[in-house]
Amino acid sequence: MNNTKEAWERHYARIARKDRVIHQSNVFVGFNANIDAIIYIDETFEKILAENNITKDNLLKKEPKNINTQKEFLQVLAKSIMDSKEMEIATKNKKLTQWIENTFNTREYRIGGQAGIMSKFLDNLGLRVVFSTPKLSEKMAHLLPKTLIIPDASGLKKLKDAKKSEDTKTNYIFEYKKGTSLFNKKTPRADRFILATRPKGLEPRFHNNATYEFLSFFELVDRAIISGFQSLNAYDKKDFEKAHTQIEKIKKVNPEIKIHVEEAYITDRRVSDEILDFVVRHVHSMGLNEVELAKTLSATGKSKKASAIEKSNYSLLECYLGAKEIFEKMKLQRLHMHTYNYCMVLLSKDYGTSPEKMRDGLLFALLCAAVKASNGSVSSITDIKKVETKLNEQGVKEIIRTQKELGLCEGFIDSGICDLGNHFLIAAPTKISKKLKSTVGLGDIVSSSAFVYDVL
Ligand code: GLC
Repeated sequence: MNNTKEAWERHYARIARKDRVIHQSNVFVGFNANIDAIIYIDETFEKILAENNITKDNLLKKEPKNINTQKEFLQVLAKSIMDSKEMEIATKNKKLTQWIENTFNTREYRIGGQAGIMSKFLDNLGLRVVFSTPKLSEKMAHLLPKTLIIPDASGLKKLKDAKKSEDTKTNYIFEYKKGTSLFNKKTPRADRFILATRPKGLEPRFHNNATYEFLSFFELVDRAIISGFQSLNAYDKKDFEKAHTQIEKIKKVNPEIKIHVEEAYITDRRVSDEILDFVVRHVHSMGLNEVELAKTLSATGKSKKASAIEKSNYSLLECYLGAKEIFEKMKLQRLHMHTYNYCMVLLSKDYGTSPEKMRDGLLFALLCAAVKASNGSVSSITDIKKVETKLNEQGVKEIIRTQKELGLCEGFIDSGICDLGNHFLIAAPTKISKKLKSTVGLGDIVSSSAFVYDVL
């Protein structure tokens, strides 16, 4: 164990030490962006529950697909906090969001939505980022880097010159720390609950007349990251079809491009299924966390694999076996999964990047996530040199156990790389930052930086 820990410390030190000159690779990021209103939950929350007659005994047992009432909202939020279980649930109730604004103390407004978070972060790293979202308001533009490039109907624009929309979507992020007490129980870990809103006109794609000419900027794009499909309804088949058509066009414009889709927390399994069929099946790479992996597996009818993952408390071993199903079924070239303890990538041999480079990408990405957890954002690529972290021992144990139980090549425990015939399994223990500011968006940081590392 000690030798293995030292090996991982050495890997991390090598990555943090390296001085990088960013080659200004071009990255595209789309489509979901909004404002996140960050609310920190503390002991005063119990008072709000009491005022609304919510007790420990009337919390919601089953997670609802949507939130309709104030009572339902409080019951689900309390449940998420008590179990430290991340959730994202949508509401259309405007009175409820108004009540939240008046009742809770919003500490900060940040750019949110996976694409919003990833575009800002990748720009801060020094990449040239083309960013597209269906509605970009002035309010959002203020929270984004000025250097972003926006594809408008009339060509590529600077952020300040791009067409702005009047309205802004706001999501409410309830962050809680480890050890927050609620109904005499302390939260097992830090996590967040997201109340998402669903304004119209935010379909995760380009406008309807995205012609080949409009999409021609993709000729110069090395990597594309798309997300936001969770906001579609399962019965909106046409929307999924339109997204799919645009993906095919992009691949025609640039056959060398790699496209990555970032999954999200989805409450309707039919939506998960459509995302797999219309999006994931047609791209090269997919990113998700352990909860999303289990949910995706159940949506494809693999509920045994999903419950094995949950029962094992999201062990690397079970997650690998589950992820392999999706990797093979979706004919992916790359599947990335992040958890608090470890990260893994399944990489096909025709992806064109060496497993060592992919592993280093994971380490780089995990250092970036530690910076984000500790400071709230990553302001420059050199931040990873300064962040104070601790190697996650649990992650190291997971790697050792998986090597033994699956009989993987011995080198796996120190290198995190194993050749499994048609694919490589790549894994790394995480680094935990000594300070913790917030948890929202950490997955987006890990997924996007690990994906673009080979073109940095
Ligand atoms: C989802 C949420 C958004 C949050 C993001 C973080 O996209 O809707 O509010 O910023 O996740 O990953």
